[in-house]
Amino acid sequence: MLDEYSATNLPNLKSMIAQNYDNVPQSQVPPVRGIGVLTSGGDAPGMNATIRAVARAGAHYGYRVFGVTRGFHGLWKGEIEEITKREVSEKLQRGGTFLMTARSKTFETPEGVLKGAKMCKVFGIDVLVVIGGDGSYRGARDLARIGIPVIGLPGTIDNDIASTEYTIGYDTAMNTAMEAIDKLRDTASSHERCSVIEVMGRRAGYIALNVGIATGAEVVLIPEHPYDFDTDVVKLILDGRNAGKHHYIVIVAEGAGKATDIAERIEEATGIESRPTILGHLQRGGSPTLRDRTMASLMGVHAVECINSGRLNRLVIFKDGRITDVDIEEGLKMTKTISEAEMERAKILS
Ligand code: F6P
Repeated sequence: MLDEYSATNLPNLKSMIAQNYDNVPQSQVPPVRGIGVLTSGGDAPGMNATIRAVARAGAHYGYRVFGVTRGFHGLWKGEIEEITKREVSEKLQRGGTFLMTARSKTFETPEGVLKGAKMCKVFGIDVLVVIGGDGSYRGARDLARIGIPVIGLPGTIDNDIASTEYTIGYDTAMNTAMEAIDKLRDTASSHERCSVIEVMGRRAGYIALNVGIATGAEVVLIPEHPYDFDTDVVKLILDGRNAGKHHYIVIVAEGAGKATDIAERIEEATGIESRPTILGHLQRGGSPTLRDRTMASLMGVHAVECINSGRLNRLVIFKDGRITDVDIEEGLKMTKTISEAEMERAKILS
């Protein structure tokens, strides 16, 4: 099918990528021999464990596994090498991604997608496993629509992939933030200050909310819920002070405001000395926790089991306590958010 699409008939290719094109009928899918694997978007602890699982399960089921470096960027450039099951030893416990990752602008164009698809053919990649977030899944879906079967694995610290209740890296990032905030509480308490901590989450407040619960934060601000500074920040801090508190923890997801501004405004409004801390990329590094290692490993095996049973163009997900999979087109249409009730519970605990 790919041969019909070259740079000379890009208009057709564009419309094909734009449609919800139910690409190659399952009965016509040629037998899979080669599996490609790449990591894309922001890195997340557990990505290495995921690659390892795909390589080991791939070898177990008799496939050749190819590692693509630098995400989709490396795919269209043909940065592809075979990885054996031995080459992934000592990777399970490492943070980051040894395949490296990138956000590819080229891959957002039909030309980039076509180049990527052609590289799959050149290297004998019959199915591409994409580890990343929703943005990476959209690149994978475009490939699927022009006949390159894909499997998506959820890798992002933000837990903001709608189709799944859990993403690889989320637990490690939350533990890293929690440990840092416990330390910040020690010094905030000694100085009777307010510590304002900015955690990652440009579009999602999952890290902020759960770390807020785990550290007993007085205030949690997330992008999903607009807030009123006087009632949702100042009043809560003053209520705390009047009830006998001497120090305060305010957690803000980066998409909901800047720690520096918020600390300044709190100090101005309450007279309580306030200090901002931005945890930043610290949250993306480090050795994955047990939860991330096991989720990454079992999800990686599940991806290869999908391939082995002919279930292609699927997203591996965690739902209702088990690892399963959904169609990529369906998964990308889903939405999820943090409810008022979840926010309310965090307030009750503060
Ligand atoms: O990995 C997700 C995320 O951490 C977001 O919360 C954040 O906004 C973004 O990545 C920042 O990534 P980068 O600095 O690599 O562009």
